[in-house]
Amino acid sequence: MSTIDEVKSRIDIVDLVSETGVKLRHAGKNYTGFCPFHDNKHTPAFVVWPESGTWRCFGQCNEGGDIFKFVMKREGLDFKEALQKLALRAGVELEDFKREAPEVKEAYDHLRKLLEDAVIFYRTQLFNNNTILTYLREKRGLTDATIETFGLGYAPSGYDNALKHFTQRGYSQQDLIDAGLLTVRESDSQVPNSETRSYDKFRNRIMIPIRDENGRMAGFGARIVDPNDIPKFLNSPETPIFTKGHILYGLDRARKPIRMADQAVIVEGYLDVIALHQAGYENVVSPMGTALTEDQLRLLKRSTRRIVLALDPDAAGQKAVLRGLDAARSAMDREGELGFDARGLLKNEARLQADLRVATMPDDLDPDELVARNKDEWKQLIENAKPIVTHVMESLAAGQNINDAKVKSQIAAQVLPLIEDLPNALERDTYRQALSRMLRVDESVLMGTQAQGPVARRRPRIAEQRQKIEPSVVLSTVNPVFKIEEYCLGVLFRKPEMLYRLDRKLEEFGLSALAVEDFGYTDHQLLFDVVRHAVEQDEKDHQKYLLMNLPSTLETIAMDFLARSEGKLELVDDRVLEDDLVLRFIDLRRSIAQASVSQLRFLQEDEQQQGGANLKMYQEQTTQFLRLLQSLDQAKRKLALKRQA
Ligand code: CTP
Ligand code: MN
Repeated sequence: MSTIDEVKSRIDIVDLVSETGVKLRHAGKNYTGFCPFHDNKHTPAFVVWPESGTWRCFGQCNEGGDIFKFVMKREGLDFKEALQKLALRAGVELEDFKREAPEVKEAYDHLRKLLEDAVIFYRTQLFNNNTILTYLREKRGLTDATIETFGLGYAPSGYDNALKHFTQRGYSQQDLIDAGLLTVRESDSQVPNSETRSYDKFRNRIMIPIRDENGRMAGFGARIVDPNDIPKFLNSPETPIFTKGHILYGLDRARKPIRMADQAVIVEGYLDVIALHQAGYENVVSPMGTALTEDQLRLLKRSTRRIVLALDPDAAGQKAVLRGLDAARSAMDREGELGFDARGLLKNEARLQADLRVATMPDDLDPDELVARNKDEWKQLIENAKPIVTHVMESLAAGQNINDAKVKSQIAAQVLPLIEDLPNALERDTYRQALSRMLRVDESVLMGTQAQGPVARRRPRIAEQRQKIEPSVVLSTVNPVFKIEEYCLGVLFRKPEMLYRLDRKLEEFGLSALAVEDFGYTDHQLLFDVVRHAVEQDEKDHQKYLLMNLPSTLETIAMDFLARSEGKLELVDDRVLEDDLVLRFIDLRRSIAQASVSQLRFLQEDEQQQGGANLKMYQEQTTQFLRLLQSLDQAKRKLALKRQA
C-alpha cells in the first residue's frame, strides 16, 4: 500500500471536516452541514460521504473531493503540502520528504552548501592535476563529460588544503567537522602541551560526490591514488545528512531511467556505476561499501519492483554462501560488502513484493571492465539474471561433484531452508522440483533430509508474519469506486494513447470526454492529468513522457498501477479493453449522478422547510443530473447491443 493510501485509510473524513468547525448532521448514510467554502449560512449544502471518504458542496461552490482536496482548499495548500499535513496527522512517515524542523533544515542546508562548495573545490584541484586527469581519462576510460556529470574531483595531498580554503571563506572548523571534511585528533594526555587538532580527512584521493535521491549533496566517497595507501576507499563519516544505509549512490541520476526500464540494477562500486552510466546503462546504482539494506531496496521500489543484483563471483558464489557472510566480510579491509545473504534478500523480496534477481559477473571482471570489453555483454548478463533460489542452487552446484551423496545433502541443507521461506506454495513446489532434478534425488527423499536435518523447525512463513502487521480494514481501498478508478488508471498508464479513443467513444454516445472530474480522489485526478498531458505532447513515446513527468509524491502509486496491470492487458484485445473502460467510466459517472440526485432530494426537503432560497438551484441541478443519468443509461444500452453484435 502506498503512503497516500495509508493516509487515506487512517483519516476519517467526518472527523477531519468536523474539526475545522463544520457542524455535521446525520442525514441517512451521509452527513450534511454548512459549506465552509462559501458563506451562505442559510441552509446546509455541504455533504460528506463517509463510505467513500468524499465530500461535495451542492451550493454555490458546486465542488467536491476527498480529504486532500478539502485540506488543499481550506488552507490554500498544494497536494504535496496537504499530503504532508495529513500524513503527520495520520502518523504515517512519508519517504520522500522526511520532516525537518525549520532550524534543523537550516543547519542541514548549511552543511549541504558547504559540501556543494567542496565539490567545486575538489573539481578545480582535479582540473589542475594532469596525472589524475590522465588516470581517469585513460586508465578508467572516462570522458570529460562523465567527469563533469558525476562531479568528480581530487583532494590534494597535505593536511590543511580544505581547512584553509574553507575557513578563509567564512566556514568554521566546526562546520567542516560536521560535514565530515575534517578529522579531529584529540589532545594526547600522555604528551604535555599537545592540543586538539583538526586536519583534512581526504588527502591525495579521487573525490566522488554522493548525493541523495533528490540530488542533494550528502557526502563523498574517496578513492586512493597511491596504490599503497589504505583503505582503498574512504567515505564521509555518518552525518545527519549522510546515512549510508539510506542512500544509494547514483540514484539521483538513475531514478528516471529505472522507471523507464522498469528495472534497477545494483552493482558494488562507485566507478562501476559511473562507467555503466557512461555506456548508456543509466538504471544502475550502488550501495557504499555496506551491506544492502531494506531501506535501500525500498528506495528503489518506489520506481520499480524489478531489481537485479550484479555481484562479483566471489561475493555471490559458493564461498560466501558456505562460509557464511561474516567470514567473507572480515577478510576485507572495508566496512562491509554488498554481500549475499540469500535468506535476508528473500525476506525483503517477499516483504516488499519485489522481484529480486542475481546476475554473476563473468571472468572475474568488474562491471566497468565488462562494459569496456563489450557493451552488449552487460545487457545479456542482466537479461539472464536468475531468481535468488535458482542462483544459490546453481552456484552451490558449480564445480562440485553432484553425484557425491555428501555434496547432495550439503546442498540440500543449504537450499531447502530458503525454499521453505518462500511465501508462495506454488513457488515452493517449483523450486523443490528443480532442486530434486538438479541433485537427481527423489523429492520425497529431499523432504526426508529436511525432516531429519537441523532445518526441520518450520518458521512461520513471511506471508503469515505479514498478515499480522497489515492494518485490518482499509476504508478507502475497499471502496468499489476507488477500485474502479485504480483499474482505469492502471490501464491508461500502460496504454496512454487509448485515452483519445475513449474520448471519441464517449463523444459518440453524446457524453463528454474524460476529465479529472471523473475521478473522485485527488491523487487519481493528478495522475489522470499527467496522462492527459502525456498524450497531448507531440512526442511519440507517450509512456516515456508520462513516466518522466510524474510528480515525485505520486511515484509509488503510479508504479503500483503499472505493476498491477503488468502482463494482463496484452491478453486482451484493445477494442474489448476500450469498451470495458468506457463502461466503467459510465458507471463511475452514474454512481456520482445517482448519489447526487438522492442527496439533492434531501436538500430540497430541508430547503422547503426553511423558506426555499436555494430551491431553484437544487431543482436545476437535479434536472441536470437526471438528464445525465438518462444519456448514461442510453449509452450503456448501446454499448451492450454493440457487444452482442
Ligand atoms: N569500498 C569501501 N571501502 C573499501 C573498499 C571498497 O567502501 N575499503 C566500497 C566502495 O563503495 C567501492 C566498492 O566497495 O566502490 C567496491 O570496491 P572495489 O571493487 O574494491 O572498488 P571499485 O569501485 O571497483 O573501484 P576500482 O575499480 O577503482 O578498483
Ligand atoms: Mn572496479
